[in-house]
Amino acid sequence: MDSEKYWANELDRYSTEGLIRQVPSLKFIDATHCIDGKNNKLFVVCTNDYFGFRFHPEVIKAASMALGNAGVGAGGARSVIGSFSVLEELERELADFQRCDAALIFNTGYMANVGLISVLADSNGVIFSDEKNHASIIDGCRLSRAKIVVYPHRNVEYLKFLLEENKNFTMRFIATEGVFSMDGTIAPLPDLLDLAEKFDAHIILDNAHSLGVLGDHGYGTLEHFGITFNPRIIHVGTLSKVLGSFGGFVCGSKLLINFLRHHSRPFLCSTSLPESMLAASLKALRLLKSQQDSAHRLKHFSQIARDIFSKYEIAFPADFTGIFPLITGDENLTMQIFKKLYQSSIYLVAIRYPSVPRGSARLRLTVCSEYEESEWREALHTIAKAIKSVKT
Ligand SMILES: Cc1ncc(COP(=O)(O)O)c(C=O)c1O
Repeated sequence: MDSEKYWANELDRYSTEGLIRQVPSLKFIDATHCIDGKNNKLFVVCTNDYFGFRFHPEVIKAASMALGNAGVGAGGARSVIGSFSVLEELERELADFQRCDAALIFNTGYMANVGLISVLADSNGVIFSDEKNHASIIDGCRLSRAKIVVYPHRNVEYLKFLLEENKNFTMRFIATEGVFSMDGTIAPLPDLLDLAEKFDAHIILDNAHSLGVLGDHGYGTLEHFGITFNPRIIHVGTLSKVLGSFGGFVCGSKLLINFLRHHSRPFLCSTSLPESMLAASLKALRLLKSQQDSAHRLKHFSQIARDIFSKYEIAFPADFTGIFPLITGDENLTMQIFKKLYQSSIYLVAIRYPSVPRGSARLRLTVCSEYEESEWREALHTIAKAIKSVKT
């Protein structure tokens, strides 16, 4: 059959190009260590669980209690089965945390972006999207009836030119990640806001990797730039990274959230999250708000990585985030480094096409507040040496 031939040919091609993914089966024993199928203990240095909340005893306790009280699943979409008090509480606290009037929980951050972007404008709208935006923003754009215009990464001047060129549209949106997930760069938010004011646009700000990490209180990209609130910003986030749980959300005006409740299909047509996950997220959010120690530790570990990579002359982004994309380029070469590190008991994921463009493969190191300092330092030296040994 032609379809089967096509699937097999594609996989053969991926194999030749070093793009085959063999995802290992791992059993996590804490936020930063796991055991593989051959009983090897690995130090995991690519988690998005920045503060280790998925193993936090209070978060686990909150989830377990909700599981005992409310059962495993949710039983239906919210529009079918009704809402839960923990869901409403979490939405109120998320809205508060992002300095917005209202929030809406989606089942994943991916669905939040798709559920928002696909519906917020009709063919009178235009969405300007940074070329390095996450797949969920891209897919939201693909499903939208608005015109989509992709602009070069963080290029404010070019974006201004494109906004001028598309002045005839009556609804304008600029979609950007706060911290770019594959590049560790930060969006030029003050400049984007100037453009949004000038051209009467909204900004869709995906704070997936900024929440908890940027700003003294972990509010994210806005706090990083000293901005308290701006009604032009629509916030998107995930419950699955710094909050260590599962789910996604959009925060904005009451009008926008009400509109999404009536129009967004991922919200309307999918079973809602179970109470256990919501209770875990709520507990994690409260922990995040009540202590700044994790953020300080994360910044300290980030600085250690910067110092060590500088010593080895390994490039990393100038922006101070929790992400270190160590760009190696060639896919096969990147896999060689991955395997070498694995043999040294370090699990550092190799990111390749289609997650990033071809020829820009990278090892995506992330920082976690739960690292033990000596283990982190030792791993950084091993990583730097592995990169140097394969590259030269
Ligand atoms: C920038 C960005 N947005 C959205 C998502 C999707 O979030 P989730 O994992 O909750 O679906 C991710 C996760 O990979 C991300 O990096």
